[in-house]
Amino acid sequence: MSERAAHILDEVRKYHQDSKDDRGFVPGVTEIWPSGAVLDDEDRAAMVEAALNLRIAAGSSARKFESVFARRMQRRKAHLTNSGSSANLLAVTALTSPQLGERRLVPGDEVITVAAGFPTTVNPILQNGLVPVFVDIDLHTYNTTAERIEKAVGPRTRAIMVAHALGNPFEVAEVAQLAEERDLLLIEDNCDAVGSTYRGQLTGTFGDLATVSFYPAHHLTMGEGGCVLTSNLVLARIVESLRDWGRDCWCEPGESDTCRKRFGYQMGTLPAGYDHKYIFSHVGYNLKTTDLQAALGLSQLDKLDEFGAARRRNWRQLHDGLADVPWLLLPKPTPGSDPSWFGFVITVDPEAPFRRAELVDFLENRKIGTRRLFAGNLTRHPAYLDRGFRVSGELPNSDIVTEHTFWVGVYPGLTEEMIDYVIASISEFVGAHQ
Ligand SMILES: Cc1ncc(COP(=O)(O)O)c(C=O)c1O
Repeated sequence: MSERAAHILDEVRKYHQDSKDDRGFVPGVTEIWPSGAVLDDEDRAAMVEAALNLRIAAGSSARKFESVFARRMQRRKAHLTNSGSSANLLAVTALTSPQLGERRLVPGDEVITVAAGFPTTVNPILQNGLVPVFVDIDLHTYNTTAERIEKAVGPRTRAIMVAHALGNPFEVAEVAQLAEERDLLLIEDNCDAVGSTYRGQLTGTFGDLATVSFYPAHHLTMGEGGCVLTSNLVLARIVESLRDWGRDCWCEPGESDTCRKRFGYQMGTLPAGYDHKYIFSHVGYNLKTTDLQAALGLSQLDKLDEFGAARRRNWRQLHDGLADVPWLLLPKPTPGSDPSWFGFVITVDPEAPFRRAELVDFLENRKIGTRRLFAGNLTRHPAYLDRGFRVSGELPNSDIVTEHTFWVGVYPGLTEEMIDYVIASISEFVGAHQ
């Protein structure tokens, strides 16, 4: 790095320190966000450094992030994408690749998923002409179970795509075993759960593919961004091709002929020797990220353990502080798991003398941000009403979540004082409505 660049970055770090908001927490005035990015001087400097180098497309930082993150997540390959939703789209679409031969999913095949969750866990199933089979969840863990998934398997079921709900792992070892026994492919939507473990093993390492989001609400951020993880090299190649326009060639931007036979292929009905850079083996997309985003990701990655510890600490503080408050169903980690929590989910007992909406209004008026468990029961949303899907059993808990559930934040930007205020506010509201 030149002396001048080093000087600029020093100034950026100072700018960061000088522009910090140090007004302190004022209850009822300071916003307590449910989630958000926690960015320090090094994050700011990392982005400026990438900008100074004018690395405007995916480049060296993106490649470095992919290799460091894959190692960190104990997978052989990580492919960066422009969002977690794009990662989900790539993961599901990869299962339809002709390169999988007999194993490929074809229109009309079924994928088991959860009714109460985030829409883009489910959308790629529909976008690929596949049929979602919705199963219900448990209250407390907000996850489905291997038993429910097993009951949902039908003659056309080919895959399972489930998210670890708000960081809480589902019974992923049991589900992976079921997938193996029934010859199903498994995708873990790990967007909310980076750093969570189940039976001592990182989530995202059980399935054929796993996905991550780097949107600011998530454990690590790049602003916008996502990633597909896999240790299956055939799937990795397919994901890369689908992400990069569908091309067959795997040269990085700026590279040519890494396979040493750029003009030596004959594929499809193309003339022999057609430039491999322009041979397309998939009907693909361009879902790549930029180096600026990856530079931020690399700098965030250094703080993953610290962020996970803060999320666990904040969750525990909320849990202990609310343990004796009546009418609230508090969350529980799935047995055998150690979640790196995304949020603290609360279900108001349907028999309670107050409604969820009243409690949420009270909290929002105190600047305590709340969120829904995403879509609640997705099958009730206008977008899905006339779509082909199957429901296995019934969805009573997904409906309870739709009516009675919300969550508050545990992200590392929250202080002990803020969380005490959240606990005191919830306790005060419930105490006044007995
Ligand atoms: C479980 C889950 N999957 C996928 C996504 C989509 O991620 P992105 O916002 O990066 O597209 C989210 C977003 O919060 C999510 O919670």
